[in-house]
Amino acid sequence: MSPTLQTPVRIGLIGGGGIATAHLTGYAAIPERARITAVADAHEETLAARVAETGATGYTDFTELVRDPEVDAVDICLPHHLHARAIVAAAEAGKHILCEKPLCLTAEESETVREVVERTGVTLMCAHNQLFMPAVATAKEVIEAGQLGDVYEVRTTDSFFNDFDPESMGWRAHAATSGGGEYIDTGYHPTYLLMHFAGAMPTEVFAMMSTHRLTFMEGEDSAQVLVRFDNGSVGQLVTSWAYEAAPGTDRFSVVGSAGSLSSDGSTLRVKRRGEEEQVFAAEPIDTFAAEIADFITCLETGRRPLNTEEEGIAVLGIILAAYESARSGAAAPVLRA
Ligand SMILES: NC(=O)c1ccc[n+]([C@@H]2O[C@H](COP(=O)([O-])OP(=O)(O)OC[C@H]3O[C@@H](n4cnc5c(N)ncnc54)[C@H](O)[C@@H]3O)[C@@H](O)[C@H]2O)c1
Repeated sequence: MSPTLQTPVRIGLIGGGGIATAHLTGYAAIPERARITAVADAHEETLAARVAETGATGYTDFTELVRDPEVDAVDICLPHHLHARAIVAAAEAGKHILCEKPLCLTAEESETVREVVERTGVTLMCAHNQLFMPAVATAKEVIEAGQLGDVYEVRTTDSFFNDFDPESMGWRAHAATSGGGEYIDTGYHPTYLLMHFAGAMPTEVFAMMSTHRLTFMEGEDSAQVLVRFDNGSVGQLVTSWAYEAAPGTDRFSVVGSAGSLSSDGSTLRVKRRGEEEQVFAAEPIDTFAAEIADFITCLETGRRPLNTEEEGIAVLGIILAAYESARSGAAAPVLRA
């Protein structure tokens, strides 16, 4: 454990809106290991409600929260355009960071985040909660054990019928605050899963973006993206808020030189060539609680988070290249920050 870290680890929650509820449930499940000591939210009513709920010190300005000596680490649950600013403020104050997706929005912000995390030596974990789905974790073990051989192809899908309307959509409707449309929001999850299963860094992207139904959004409501990785594998993803996937569509699948796997998100099927299919069935878990417990473990033990700023920057690289490809109509290189 880091010498300055207290037990339980003292957490400053930055942004107390929708997803903060899932994060707070995660901390509440491990009271002997973590507790909320500070909350920041710019909306006074939201702040008052979160302070009443947690008993923590409240701040309307997160740059004040990060200077609170009763905070060891921050959990950033802000709209996307504020992530980089909050990361920089927290790291400069020496606080460890769990950051909701996306890590940040531009190549310039990626460079800033990389520089400040390296220089200050804080731990940054990307809140990539779907890595904690049991089917994803088991699939990763199967791939890393070499059971599929060399990975050739990865596919992921994350689509649902989103009933947002212009009033309920808030900052997500605007590219300046969301960074794009559906792809940088929900589509971010199947992107990090693609990279996780490929086990490699992205080099090139071809994408088509569409607006099928949510016409009031500035950005797309659907995306189809192809990604080439530096180990030769190719990923393909489909993501949408306009429609749900057809029945029977895999949530993810991976094909390698020795076999394949596929999953609907809970049951995992592994088929090695010439062998019987193996079926792993797992009960769904609270992936946010698992992610938060793992963040605390990383702080306690010094273990590297599954995804740090390194993976967060690479995932953003895919997304920015996809937007560029959709604009130009040609494949776009993934720029490395
Ligand atoms: N992992 C997932 O499945 C998942 C699901 C939903 C949201 N998220 C992510 O969580 C983050 C937050 O999303 P949300 O749905 O909770 O949004 P939200 O709008 O419900 O909450 C954001 C909160 O930030 C506060 N805020 C805005 N500007 C602020 C500022 N300058 N200082 C302090 N507080 C400020 C708002 O008042 C609000 O309470 C986003 O990055 C989003 O992509 C992840």
